[in-house]
Amino acid sequence: MNNELSVGPIGVFDSGFGGLSILREMRRVLPQYDYLFLGDNARAPYGVRSFELVYQFTLQAVKHLFAAGCPLVILACNTASAKALRSIQQRDLPQLDATRRVLGVIRPTVERVGELSRTGHIGVFGTPGTIQSGSYDIEITKLHPSFKVFGHACPMWVPLVEYRESDGPGADYFVRKDINALLAQDPDIDTVILGCTHYPLLLDKISRYMPAGIHIVAQGGIVAESLAEYLRRHPEMASRCTTGGTCRYLTTDDPDRFAEMASVFTGEPVTAEREQIV
Ligand code: DGL
Repeated sequence: MNNELSVGPIGVFDSGFGGLSILREMRRVLPQYDYLFLGDNARAPYGVRSFELVYQFTLQAVKHLFAAGCPLVILACNTASAKALRSIQQRDLPQLDATRRVLGVIRPTVERVGELSRTGHIGVFGTPGTIQSGSYDIEITKLHPSFKVFGHACPMWVPLVEYRESDGPGADYFVRKDINALLAQDPDIDTVILGCTHYPLLLDKISRYMPAGIHIVAQGGIVAESLAEYLRRHPEMASRCTTGGTCRYLTTDDPDRFAEMASVFTGEPVTAEREQIV
């Protein structure tokens, strides 16, 4: 890959639609930048896939966004952040282009829980892949060695969102069941992280069934604020992110279906283009 300093949009990647909940907040906090969103809808969900596959798919997506000129890529997917980010940052980036950056969503989220929790007992909802990786546990206890972390995988939540059932009665059933299962692990959990970018679409129901007094941490605003702070601290990177205020959407699956679903996440009409990323 050509190592001349790239200049272009901020790349935002997710396995499917979930990353749009992060992108929406980024565009609210940093509307001046151009964004290029890539959803690997043809191969979603990632949450039930092996470490090796999530890594391979995520690396392909990063290379694709780099080839499109993105100097900075945000993995707006917890599963990809949990299973692929570290390898890409440490092993691949130095060879691909050491001047570009790939950032994830777990670290910025974890940095906020210290401010919220009084008991230091943190619950995490995520895909099976994110929960099995132990990434939240590792990152939280790095920052707060005395904290205790309780994870619970919610394999039905992503399909509920992807199939537009997040407002239906099936969602009530699974949200209540999974909240009960998480809280049954420990009576002192006072902060619960929604560790999957799809889950904000279930926020109404999660808020309805979560007992009062428990903080629910959704990531969009946190990741957007953290990106703004990153760009303030790295003006050399900020100057490489173009500022036309545009947003393009790429999907590996049917662009019309993507556009229809994406508008549910973004609250505005979306047009999408199909891309092959293999
Ligand atoms: N949105 C992804 C995440 O944040 C998960 C969706 C999937 O399973 O592909 O983990």
